[in-house]
Amino acid sequence: MSKVKDFNIILNNSASRSFGLWSDYRFNLTEYIISQSTKIKEKYDSCLLIGCGSSNDIDLHKILKVAGKITLSDIDESAIKEAIKTYNLQKNSIDVEVVDYTGINSSNLFNDFVSLSLKNTPEMMSKIIDQLFKTIENYRFLEKNMGKYDLVVISPIYTQLLYSQFRMDLGVLSDLNYPSKSIEYLESKFLEKMPDLLKRFNQNLIDLANVKATVVCVSDIFEFAVGTDEHKKIIELATIENGINDYHLNYRNQYGYGLGDYGIADLSSYLDVLDSKWFFWNFDEKRLLLVMAKVMKKYDKIRKD
Ligand SMILES: C[S@@+](CC[C@H](N)C(=O)[O-])C[C@H]1O[C@@H](n2cnc3c(N)ncnc32)[C@H](O)[C@@H]1O
Repeated sequence: MSKVKDFNIILNNSASRSFGLWSDYRFNLTEYIISQSTKIKEKYDSCLLIGCGSSNDIDLHKILKVAGKITLSDIDESAIKEAIKTYNLQKNSIDVEVVDYTGINSSNLFNDFVSLSLKNTPEMMSKIIDQLFKTIENYRFLEKNMGKYDLVVISPIYTQLLYSQFRMDLGVLSDLNYPSKSIEYLESKFLEKMPDLLKRFNQNLIDLANVKATVVCVSDIFEFAVGTDEHKKIIELATIENGINDYHLNYRNQYGYGLGDYGIADLSSYLDVLDSKWFFWNFDEKRLLLVMAKVMKKYDKIRKD
């Protein structure tokens, strides 16, 4: 069994992930990526798409207008095949890389986390979590392609790298009457480890980009239940200048960084940010996500350092 892979295949297959439902989001996001590249006056030789899945969120036809070749990467090969079919992509314009960005995909410690938790004390499980993260400390993906890409596009992924799968295990433990205090303990232990994992992931992305590359990162920062007061409030704030930026900063000051926020902030700390923009993503009938996109350059930063 490979939990990371299976989990993402299920999510990618879920009926709610509709190509049709995301059409406005896809249009707006793709236009933004294209318009930024036009502004920078660049045509890219090779683009790497991270977390491509079925590419319901980015129109690959349009990306091919600014990029000679796109490398589609994801852990879910069937979703990539779906993308190739949807956009009728020709072999000579794409490469496919089926890859795990975390290195945990084949770890039995992670795959058997629930059964291990039932056999061991929470303190022992805490050590197992240490051990688990130790095994991926030096993990790198797509090493053969380092420095190759002049456009790297990251589709929302920080909130999906491991933690959501781990939370599902905690849900199973909770159903099995595992003590809630122990669940909280394991969750905070796991969360403690996430920043290092995200930093390593980001460093890997930066190394895949060539020295003059443009990096476009898209990250989900907030989720709203459709129809709630918070949902109505955020829609209203979007009509006010800096409304969403202020909401974001206030939230951070009060509660700190979520994983999506941390991931994109960390990545942008190594790069020069040229532009950023918020997007609403009608994820499904019940959920609206607020997503931040940042356009960044590697070159200028290197020149300054
Ligand atoms: C939220 S989706 C992004 C949206 C996606 N571009 C689409 O249009 O459906 C995140 C993607 O990251 C992939 N993913 C999650 N964890 C991964 C991992 N550890 N390694 C590689 N890909 C992963 C998932 O399979 C999924 O396709």
